[in-house]
Amino acid sequence: MADLAGKVAIITGAAGGQGAAAARRFIEEGAQVMIADIDDVKGAALADELGEHAHYRHLDVGNEEQWADLVEETVALLGKVDVLVNNAGILMFSALADTTLEQYERVIRINQVGTFLGMRSVVKPMTAAGGGSIINTSSIEGLAAVPLLVAYSSSKFAIRGMSKVAAMELGEVGIRVNSVHPGMIDTNMVSTAAGGGEVDLSPAGRKVALRRVGRPEEIAEVLVFLASDKSSYCTGAEFVADGGATATHAFNFAG
Ligand SMILES: NC(=O)c1ccc[n+]([C@@H]2O[C@H](COP(=O)([O-])OP(=O)(O)OC[C@H]3O[C@@H](n4cnc5c(N)ncnc54)[C@H](O)[C@@H]3O)[C@@H](O)[C@H]2O)c1
Repeated sequence: MADLAGKVAIITGAAGGQGAAAARRFIEEGAQVMIADIDDVKGAALADELGEHAHYRHLDVGNEEQWADLVEETVALLGKVDVLVNNAGILMFSALADTTLEQYERVIRINQVGTFLGMRSVVKPMTAAGGGSIINTSSIEGLAAVPLLVAYSSSKFAIRGMSKVAAMELGEVGIRVNSVHPGMIDTNMVSTAAGGGEVDLSPAGRKVALRRVGRPEEIAEVLVFLASDKSSYCTGAEFVADGGATATHAFNFAG
């Protein structure tokens, strides 16, 4: 039987990148997927392409009312919510000294508050359904630091922490909560943060053990596992898929 047969999943930021790859794989594994994003054109086109088990709804993850509407509509349309992937996120490069409060709060609003609102809004329906799986996309930037990512890294460390708190609170009602920590993945995220032009990610890829950046499909496989009952004893844990980026430290003698 397919790993996600009969499951209903909400995936945020699923109009493109890793979220879209996850939506595709979830449907292949038998799930019904609510694709939620602010990019209505790409989101609706993906839902059309993926067929009757894919549905698109507009969601700005930082908006409390929109979360309430989305979860209500999902339950009305599909009967329940088994899986939530809090994947939507934005990146911003800026030195600490130059980062305005407005810029900082924008990243926190989407990445961190969005994840909090998402988790909170599915507690009731998942509890009513007898359990579920919440998967929060953090990053290797939630495990270690690099310069210029003060807002992004803060949000991703916070996601790692709130996932564990939620796991501790919700385990008794059968809701598992885990964080996923991708390394550098070949999506538009870096080029969007850099202003929209082409960005060659391959030099960064050559620095990691596997000598390449990751593909969205490789993260989707981790998400399928965490959404499925195959991960039934995993909660409060961190799942790293980074090609070995965090296996080393600054004093790598090979350069
Ligand atoms: N690409 C990487 O190297 C990398 C590495 C580690 C973690 N991540 C994380 O993975 C997740 C997915 O990123 P990606 O690489 O697919 O990026 P992406 O830019 O390709 O996709 C992000 C998606 O989120 C959507 N989005 C942005 N703001 C939103 C909002 N307010 N509400 C709803 N949707 C919104 C965008 O429209 C887009 O469809 C993010 O949380 C990101 O921080 C990415």
